[in-house]
Amino acid sequence: MTKNSIMNLFNVYQLYDVTPVKAKDAYVTDDKGVEYLDLYGGHGVVSIGHSHPHYLSKLKKQLDAIGFYSNAVINPLQIELADKLGSISGYPDYSLFLCNSGAEANENALKLASFYTNKKRVITFENSFHGRTSVAVSVTDNPTINAPINSTNPTTFLPLNNIDLVVEELVKGDVCAVIIEGIQGVGGLDEGTTSLFQDLEKICKQFNVILIVDEVQSGYGRSGKFFAHQYHDIKPDIISVAKGMGNGFPIGGVLISPKFKATYGMLGTTFGGNHLACAAGIAVLEVIEKENLMQNVEKVSKYFIKEAQKITQIKNIKGRGLMLGLEFDFEVAELRKKLINQKHIFTGGANNKKLLRILPPLNVKKEHIAMFFKVLKEILNEFVIPA
Ligand SMILES: Cc1ncc(COP(=O)(O)O)c(C=O)c1O
Repeated sequence: MTKNSIMNLFNVYQLYDVTPVKAKDAYVTDDKGVEYLDLYGGHGVVSIGHSHPHYLSKLKKQLDAIGFYSNAVINPLQIELADKLGSISGYPDYSLFLCNSGAEANENALKLASFYTNKKRVITFENSFHGRTSVAVSVTDNPTINAPINSTNPTTFLPLNNIDLVVEELVKGDVCAVIIEGIQGVGGLDEGTTSLFQDLEKICKQFNVILIVDEVQSGYGRSGKFFAHQYHDIKPDIISVAKGMGNGFPIGGVLISPKFKATYGMLGTTFGGNHLACAAGIAVLEVIEKENLMQNVEKVSKYFIKEAQKITQIKNIKGRGLMLGLEFDFEVAELRKKLINQKHIFTGGANNKKLLRILPPLNVKKEHIAMFFKVLKEILNEFVIPA
């Protein structure tokens, strides 16, 4: 076989030199046997901890029974998942459309808004991230990941927390949706104020515009409530979910208010809502409920914030629950490298280069956080701030 016959990976990811081969709870082990404390959960995906026994047993049993069939047949697991999700999230009257990722959830949410209003323009916010598919990326504030083909959807970016500017756009009468993250993730943990969320709910109703809250990262208990927008006492028309929903199994969903009437063929997917994905989704909700993970998030979050406040180099603590950001007055790329390479702790970055992003499994323990801060202090004491 010649060398030319080997297919390369399309090289779009800048990789850390770590090769995980197994994982358990809040730890990931690499091919050399080194254990890493996972305070990032693979971009906030690992919600109930790696290799949770209930999750494993449910998935294995499901695989032995039936792994997949398409949406042309009855799948009672979808009904069970919707029922559990409606009840735990406080949205039992909404309906659920199942898909495979966060971008797809937003794509379908925006499509529904456009079907409903028969309009196309979307209002979104500066520093937002909603995914990489066509419409989702067009409402994402990052020109470098928008190709020319994505520029066909009319979109207006506004600064967060200026309701007057939103009203100015809605009066023009061509807007189908306002989309906002529960808490901005990739951007760097900024969030709308309670008055912004409440005013958005009010004016969207007034102008017959659909309010979509993207809870892909901030949902599923990560903020300490099931959805981050529940801190603001509002009910959006559509809520998109993914990440923590399957603890690593690809699954996404759109929660849809009863005001939308479904018609056959309006939305669709081959893989979305398959048997294995539903088994993963059900297992996650069962564990969140049975192990009171939202209470754990609140408890560990308080401890985290208390410990972070003791470190003078930390200039700002952002976010809620276990969706947290530590802001320094220097760029954190080197610090993250030291954390992973020398101290074996995974953390995340953001568009805000001075922010260290923390998204651990929701059952992380205070001991893990204590270990993180001990190590962080050691590094900061010997750290030469990058020029
Ligand atoms: C808020 C938000 N929405 C959407 C997405 C896109 O999700 P996915 O990568 O599953 O398509 C992300 C991913 O980081 C996200 O943080």
